[in-house]
Amino acid sequence: MTAAEPGWLELRRPIDDAARQESLHLLDHAVARLSAETEPDTKSLLAIDIGAGTGNSALWFDTALRTRLPDWEINWILLDSDQASLDLAATALPHAQTICTPIVALPTVSAELLSASEFHGSQMLLTCSALLDVLTETDLIAVVRTLKDHDGLGLFLLSIVGGWELDPVHPHDAAVDAAFTSHQHRDGRLGHHAPERLMNLARRHGLTAVKGPSPWHLTAPADRTFLARFLSERLDAACEEDPALAAAARDWWTQRQAQLDSGLIVRVDHLDVLIDPTDRARERENPTVRMTTPAVGTEMT
Ligand SMILES: C[S@@+](CC[C@H](N)C(=O)[O-])C[C@H]1O[C@@H](n2cnc3c(N)ncnc32)[C@H](O)[C@@H]1O
Repeated sequence: MTAAEPGWLELRRPIDDAARQESLHLLDHAVARLSAETEPDTKSLLAIDIGAGTGNSALWFDTALRTRLPDWEINWILLDSDQASLDLAATALPHAQTICTPIVALPTVSAELLSASEFHGSQMLLTCSALLDVLTETDLIAVVRTLKDHDGLGLFLLSIVGGWELDPVHPHDAAVDAAFTSHQHRDGRLGHHAPERLMNLARRHGLTAVKGPSPWHLTAPADRTFLARFLSERLDAACEEDPALAAAARDWWTQRQAQLDSGLIVRVDHLDVLIDPTDRARERENPTVRMTTPAVGTEMT
């Protein structure tokens, strides 16, 4: 696992916040589910942001949730395997707890948290942003097991799904994109398949999964600084994956750099996923319709 560089996370924060405006309908769905399932005297939420980094995504979720659930107690856990990022996150969200651990530990961590007296009776919401593509199958199993064990809602935003559109086009756009997409799958990572894999896994275990798009819309020269870093890092990853791209990459980069001043429009596709334990809740209310779903992790395709 490689931690994200804090300067890059800061640069992408306003761009991510703008894209997450497209995510609000899923957040509203989650809030409606929380409100519908809660007794008036137990308005308490344990929200766990996985892959929290320096806290930018949790800040966005926190603001959006507090606006929509003004009379709820909202407790944040920021989970990441990089302690340096969490140290920054602790400053950004002083009211949150941080836990430095890999996502595979989530079932154990969440069970311990929910059995603690301070969170007893709380509903659970798992959140993340810009994370799923770097996860493995084992990580997704841990996520779905956690949601299933605690009837938790999961809201997973801004996952890269492959695909970008650049205007004007360049003949090497597709080659750069293909090499970058392959690079995303290194070391067993699920890359752009991750959101669909997560939804399939959740559905096989009786949970409801819905999705929505949340693309970045970028324009140069207004987004020049962000685009310069984004495009150059994407190109570096593509060339690392396919060194034979080097000559084409030089030509591509020369033209793209010039367009950062003269005009360039870029759309980068993302997918949001909401996982809702609706069917589990129905099962509890009416045990005669008990579903036969396998224990999470006992089967995968
Ligand atoms: C691209 S950053 C996103 C940070 C934050 N969510 C945001 O939107 O600003 C991904 C974060 O996930 C963390 N991460 C990646 N894989 C992880 C894993 N398997 N377990 C725990 N943290 C992980 C990295 O350390 C990094 O901080």
